[in-house]
Amino acid sequence: MGAKASIPVVQLPRDTVVIVTGANSGIGYETAKFIAMMGAKVVLACRDEYKANDAIRRMDAEFQEEKRLNSTNIIRDDHLTLEFMKLDLASLESTMKFIETFKEKYKRLNLLICNAGVYSTTKVMTEDNFELTYQVNYLGHFLIVAHLIPILMKSGKDCRIVFVCSEAHQKAKFDVNLAEHGKSNPYDCDSIYNNTKLFQIMQMYCVDKILLKSDVEVCCVNPGVVNTDLFRNNLPEGQPGCGHFCMDCFGCIKTPHTGCATTVYAAVNPELIGISRGYYKHSRAAPSWPSKAGRDPEYQGFLWTSTRELLKKYIPPDIDKLLDVTVDANNKPKK
Ligand SMILES: NC(=O)c1ccc[n+]([C@@H]2O[C@H](COP(=O)([O-])OP(=O)(O)OC[C@H]3O[C@@H](n4cnc5c(N)ncnc54)[C@H](OP(=O)(O)O)[C@@H]3O)[C@@H](O)[C@H]2O)c1
Repeated sequence: MGAKASIPVVQLPRDTVVIVTGANSGIGYETAKFIAMMGAKVVLACRDEYKANDAIRRMDAEFQEEKRLNSTNIIRDDHLTLEFMKLDLASLESTMKFIETFKEKYKRLNLLICNAGVYSTTKVMTEDNFELTYQVNYLGHFLIVAHLIPILMKSGKDCRIVFVCSEAHQKAKFDVNLAEHGKSNPYDCDSIYNNTKLFQIMQMYCVDKILLKSDVEVCCVNPGVVNTDLFRNNLPEGQPGCGHFCMDCFGCIKTPHTGCATTVYAAVNPELIGISRGYYKHSRAAPSWPSKAGRDPEYQGFLWTSTRELLKKYIPPDIDKLLDVTVDANNKPKK
């Protein structure tokens, strides 16, 4: 399927339900398309209906082409099973609406892929008064994960949560203010982006504690450097796309097609059944651990407790109870 990228191709049970956030472009687009071609029903959780429906049309056209090329192991249906569902992660109200809509329509969820992300070079506060990058990349996804864990737990064997993280988390110096209040001063776009990716790692370790006795696994992936809209949209005028990383990454920038491989690997590879807290890169276990800060239980506990506090209004008692895992939250980390 799809020529060069080494993407695992497995046949998924036809009742598999998958959510991919930010599926209308980049890594999320390719991930959703490949997983749908393996037989799953994929919900594209996107903020812009027009862009999402356009993505659905393009995915289906590419699927027709794959069938014409006689690609192996893809479904032979007339069309892919794809559905747009509105999700603006920059709004907690919209995020809650997405959760409710999904729960009303679906009684099962096998795969939750937290992919959507932004990198904002300027300070933008959301309607909920959090840094945009923090809310989209981390907080909004936290709310979705918290509310959908019960459905994942009831959806049978081998359900997974995949966080599309980044090697950038290794560069993050834990930002206590951002963790505690969702705000950061002075504004440093690199630091905020890197911290949100660090928070995803920490979230993975905490969520894993909830999932211990379940058939749900959680992991993080580092897709590598991928030529998408993520940085291009926000670069200062005159700076070429991906310019931010060019010096570091010359010659190893991936297309979205090859860039989705690790996400798809983590999401569907049967060899990973029963393996939780994985950190994957180049479609295998990453050669190095997530950063020391990411593995620090004290930081994890502080972030976990702070996030629950910030989302208090949106977390009912039954979900709050579920989130009550033992994490070291007593000592506020030093700045
Ligand atoms: N590209 C890389 O080199 C790289 C490296 C490491 C990690 N990653 C991670 O990979 C993930 C995917 O990024 P990408 O590179 O594929 O970039 P991308 O093409 O810009 O895709 C980002 C997706 O997130 C969506 N999104 C942004 N704000 C949103 C919001 N408020 N609510 C809902 N969705 C929103 C975008 O929707 P719109 O089209 O509406 O904006 C888009 O669908 C991100 O988490 C990123 O941090 C990327």
